[in-house]
Amino acid sequence: MAAMSTLETPRLLLRRWQIADQEPFATLNGDPETMKFFLQPLNRSESDSLIERYEKHFEEQGFGMWALQSKKTRDLIGATGLLRVTFAAHFTPTVNIGWRLARQHWGNGYATEAAVEALRFGFEKLNLPEIVAFTLPQNTSSRGVMERLGMTHNPNDDFDHPKVPQWHPMVRHVLYRVKNDSNLA
Ligand SMILES: CC(C)(COP(=O)(O)OP(=O)(O)OC[C@H]1O[C@@H](n2cnc3c(N)ncnc32)[C@H](O)[C@@H]1OP(=O)(O)O)[C@@H](O)C(=O)NCCC(=O)NCCS
Repeated sequence: MAAMSTLETPRLLLRRWQIADQEPFATLNGDPETMKFFLQPLNRSESDSLIERYEKHFEEQGFGMWALQSKKTRDLIGATGLLRVTFAAHFTPTVNIGWRLARQHWGNGYATEAAVEALRFGFEKLNLPEIVAFTLPQNTSSRGVMERLGMTHNPNDDFDHPKVPQWHPMVRHVLYRVKNDSNLA
């Protein structure tokens, strides 16, 4: 298992979760605009459980979704990191990169800045052969991050998410991939 450490970018710390993160993370997860491409916003206890899930993933895997903290203000900005995909699909088993930022922090390049370091960790420390990302086709902000990272989308990879009911309008997902031979910024 790769030794887990805090990652750092020019403006951000990617670190393990703390009790003080619960409240700002619940505010983020309860915001309908931030959560409009998820099945529903989360209440406080669901948000706290998500932090517990992230922490369990770190304990078991040595990597996970990091808490993103501003080095300048110390504010919790959101989450970015790597999670093993827990469902079966044509591209699994694999590791997924994801991001979720509080609305007031969008439009500053923070998600991409953090994700570059998370990808680097996945490739250089974990030696993953490939990392994927997926979202709803209409989530252009998230697809923008994927494209800035150099991830590529093949429409033949689009899939119905097995954890979303088949009848649900959010069932269809686009998949992006990046291989471990990429030149990272
Ligand atoms: C997806 C999400 C993380 C993207 O956040 P973001 O801030 O747009 O993404 P980036 O960090 O890549 O920032 C890029 C933007 O910052 C701008 N920017 C400003 N200063 C910058 C800087 N110093 N460096 C880089 N970009 C900068 C870019 O121009 C770009 O703006 P634009 O979108 O108007 O063109 C955010 O919209 C979000 O949290 N959404 C809700 C949760 C969600 O859907 N998560 C994904 C589920 S799959």
